[in-house]
Amino acid sequence: MITTRALTKSFGSFTAVNKISLEIRQGEIYGFLGPNGSGKSTTIRMLCGILEPTSGSGVVLGYDLIREAEKIKRKIGYMSQKFSLYDDLTVYENLDFYAGLYGIAYRERKKRIGEMIEMALLKGRQNELAANLSSGWKQRLALGCAIISRPAILFLDEPTSGVSPTARRAFFKIIQQLAHENTTIMVTTHFMDEAERCYRIAFISEGSLIADDTPENLKNEVIKGVLAEVVHPDGLFMIDDLEKLPYVKECSNHGPALHVLLESPEAVKALNDYTGVEAKIIRPSLEDVFVYLAKKHRRRVS
Ligand SMILES: Nc1ncnc2c1ncn2[C@@H]1O[C@H](COP(=O)(O)OP(=O)(O)OP(=O)(O)O)[C@@H](O)[C@H]1O
Ligand SMILES: [Mg+2]
Repeated sequence: MITTRALTKSFGSFTAVNKISLEIRQGEIYGFLGPNGSGKSTTIRMLCGILEPTSGSGVVLGYDLIREAEKIKRKIGYMSQKFSLYDDLTVYENLDFYAGLYGIAYRERKKRIGEMIEMALLKGRQNELAANLSSGWKQRLALGCAIISRPAILFLDEPTSGVSPTARRAFFKIIQQLAHENTTIMVTTHFMDEAERCYRIAFISEGSLIADDTPENLKNEVIKGVLAEVVHPDGLFMIDDLEKLPYVKECSNHGPALHVLLESPEAVKALNDYTGVEAKIIRPSLEDVFVYLAKKHRRRVS
């Protein structure tokens, strides 16, 4: 559904997206993760046909990213980071507006709008102004607007930022249902629980793609060494010193605990002696993988 080769976007002398090659198959939920400013939105805007690449190539739904951007724009669904609803229109009117924009025939519209209201759990709110909806409702309405044309591909740029955990869960359930019905979805998120639910995850750092695999493989294969969890009252202040120890590869904090990456299982004893508390060997989480990858990449480029 989506293929890119060395896709690149520069703004002046700054390269925001650097030679990204990826492949996304039909019905996949493809998670796109990376720190702030790493190039996620820029990549998505190129894939939507909104932003012209500086170099490289890509094909979306069989259309060329550069020569056929207009066709792509009409065929895909896109919910931008600052999704655009009309505050002074009602829920129904917003959906009707987008139905018109996508050229959905009048006789079809009522039915489609009804479906979107149902899907977005907005029943009974049709006549409320968008301005008066809470952010969770707004996000689901924005999703309804993005998929009213039943696009085969849906791009979601941080669709769940700024909403409650309950609203996030409701939103992601809808996404999973859409994928189940064969919609291909590319979604950016900073939430690890959402990343876990993706079929594949790409990780981007400073414009470069540095990992692209299933969540399982990422957790099993990226981190080389033994990961130990240490809970210590002064944990936060120990990170720098721990990282200087010869058997410690790196150390980061996860809530009240430290995650210490060791060269080998034998190093656990030395670590226990050093900290005075018992470390527990743990399996890396996705968060561990991303912290590790981002650090490694930063070290390589600096
Ligand atoms: N139109 C533009 N002109 C100049 N620089 C830009 C432009 N658009 C984006 N950038 C820069 O490109 C880099 C990547 O931005 P982008 O918005 O793609 O990051 P992101 O990964 O989506 O970040 P976030 O997680 O904060 O949304 C940033 O340094 C940003 O300042
Ligand atoms: Mg962004």
